[in-house]
Amino acid sequence: MVAILNFYAPIALTVFVAGTLYKILRHIGMMVSRRRPMGSTQGALDAPQPMSWGEAFKRVIFYPIAMFPRRSNPVWTLGFTLYHIGIITTVIGYTVAGVILAGRVAAGVPVPDVAAGLSESSNYSAANLVSIIFADAEPMVANFLFGGFGPTFAAITWIDVLCALTGNLLMLFVRANRLSGAITRDLNDPVRGVRVSGSRPPVNAFVTVVITGIIWTEILARLALVPNIVLLHSLFGLTLLLIFPFSYLWHMLYVWVAFVYAAARRRRGALA
Ligand code: HEM
Repeated sequence: MVAILNFYAPIALTVFVAGTLYKILRHIGMMVSRRRPMGSTQGALDAPQPMSWGEAFKRVIFYPIAMFPRRSNPVWTLGFTLYHIGIITTVIGYTVAGVILAGRVAAGVPVPDVAAGLSESSNYSAANLVSIIFADAEPMVANFLFGGFGPTFAAITWIDVLCALTGNLLMLFVRANRLSGAITRDLNDPVRGVRVSGSRPPVNAFVTVVITGIIWTEILARLALVPNIVLLHSLFGLTLLLIFPFSYLWHMLYVWVAFVYAAARRRRGALA
């Protein structure tokens, strides 16, 4: 497994960095092009009114979910929401772990060897460093990264795991029953009784299954039930990094930028 990870990690990380840079450069290219945003539609009857940034962000973030899927597809909405609470907090944890680890490596401090179960080593291989980040709540690694705060960090992040676990189970149900984009309940009066069957996009189904693997290997690693299971956890995590720039997972990064554009359009009154 370590040999596979040592081979796979540099490839996945290179594709991840190159793909992400390509997407960011493409976005910058779009920003500096002569295209300009549409102005507001003030001449139209019942035109949307300009609004504050706070109101605009509220509309962008909460309106679509509250107006549509919460009413028409509650299973998907609950699964999606719980899963996102879990993943967003987990990614924040990985980011903090990555920053602390980068500082330790730059200072030449010994790091744990996850595969060998050693708390101190000079194993700076990509596979080991990635495993340290993905195992940030495992007792030995949490202690290295967060010192005395390690057990508290691990305890707090159990909440993320439980949210992700419940959300993922619901998402598996959604995939199995082709509920993505479905209308399973009345959306509003004009379309009372209308039902629409959803779809099961293959990439989304693949991602959900990989995430199931990530969550369960995380649980087994935290409970220290299967030795070295964290390596399998890293393998799943690297697979998501590999496809990140080229799949809908890109929204994990881009959604923050998209929020700003969408809010800016509402603020100008160009969109309701
Ligand atoms: C509020 C902004 C966001 C919106 C509107 C959003 C929207 C979505 C949508 C529509 C899906 C697909 C659900 C499906 O296929 O049925 C999805 C999946 C996913 N999102 Fe987000 N997302 C947001 C933010 C984020 C962030 C910040 C992260 C991570 C840091 C994230 C991570 C994921 C992951 C990993 C999946 C795959 C779940 C699965 O397929 O089982 N999302 N998101």
